Amino acid sequence: MQVTNISEGTYQLSVNVENILFEGLWEMPNGVSLNSYIVKGEKTAIIDGVCGWDGVPETFYSLLDQLDIAPESIEYLVVNHMEPDHSGWIENLKKINSNFKIVCSKKAKELLSAFYYHTENITTIADGDTLDLGNGHVLSFYEIPNVHWPDTIATFDALTGTLFSCDAFGSFGKVENQKYGDELTENEREVYENDTLRYYSNIVAAFSMQVKKAVAKCETLPVKLVAPGHGLMWRNPKDIFDAYSRYADYSKGPARAEITFIWSSMYGMTEKAVKHALSILEKEDIKVHVHKVPEDSWGTVLTSAWTSTGIILAMPTYEFKMFPPMAAVLEELGKKKVLNRKAFRFGSYGWSGGAQRELDDITTKLSMNWEFLEPVEFLGAPTEEVNNQIEERIKSLVKVVKEIANK
Ligand code: FEO
Repeated sequence: MQVTNISEGTYQLSVNVENILFEGLWEMPNGVSLNSYIVKGEKTAIIDGVCGWDGVPETFYSLLDQLDIAPESIEYLVVNHMEPDHSGWIENLKKINSNFKIVCSKKAKELLSAFYYHTENITTIADGDTLDLGNGHVLSFYEIPNVHWPDTIATFDALTGTLFSCDAFGSFGKVENQKYGDELTENEREVYENDTLRYYSNIVAAFSMQVKKAVAKCETLPVKLVAPGHGLMWRNPKDIFDAYSRYADYSKGPARAEITFIWSSMYGMTEKAVKHALSILEKEDIKVHVHKVPEDSWGTVLTSAWTSTGIILAMPTYEFKMFPPMAAVLEELGKKKVLNRKAFRFGSYGWSGGAQRELDDITTKLSMNWEFLEPVEFLGAPTEEVNNQIEERIKSLVKVVKEIANK
């Protein structure tokens, strides 16, 4: 819980949240920050709020107290995006301050009514509209729909060059001593980028085309600082604009020269072949992410698959179909638009095969357009011949991944 003085009359209020599943679904090993911003002209506006989770609004009020801002004195609440992690405290604020005005998109107005029965004192904005807070702080608003909800806008203060971008350009990971991306050491940058990729792939990825449009729109503004709703701020906007643009491109591939190896096993037969496959991959000069499901979460697998040009799936057939947790993960990869990957599948079966048929059904239904090498399916445990086939396919996959990702 921290207050950061960003520039004249502009402050960040940040609350870290841990040990929850984001959206009730996504694990966050390093937590997440909920960032809110105050712009003080002659009038005071809060840009984005916090969530209504237990204790968070009270923590937020104590941050306001540090700035000598009474919640009752807040005139405007700019809702860049209605999702409850940013707006869940509105009901709580209403108990203290019944006079604040909400500024948001038309779609957010509908959602505020539907989620919180809040219909009073709402001004809806269109692209390019402005709000003058006095003392030179004139906020302008830009629609960036579907990053990642249809209501989303970004708010820009031309006086300070600050772009308040809400979910866009955000990241998982707590915000502690460092507030800005340029304060990270090289090692910290690597950890942080993984949190950013986890956030991007888990939360925003399905809307990568809209992300590209949002980046292009934001790049036309004279931005000096990107101030997102989650994660670090960026004093060199190009760093995070370029990163987001690159992450969006990974959807259609090729992504990086990496392979994500996702495997399951019931009684160790497929696992024997997995061990052999990993021994082959160890001799290849390529980065490999290995995940066992259901032990590793969807979000973790998705983060790795997002940056990988190649995917290996190893799982047994289960009752004429894919091993169920593997089917669930594969469906999620398709829904998040992990497209055009180079892939290979192998696995054991007992009385019959069938996994391949379900795999084909899922990839077709979700238009994933993965290009598969010929699968290797085997009855019971892998034989030497099976291992040789797996070795040959894996070497082919590594070759093609390197060729297309390094172009
Ligand atoms: Fe950070 Fe879409 O809420």
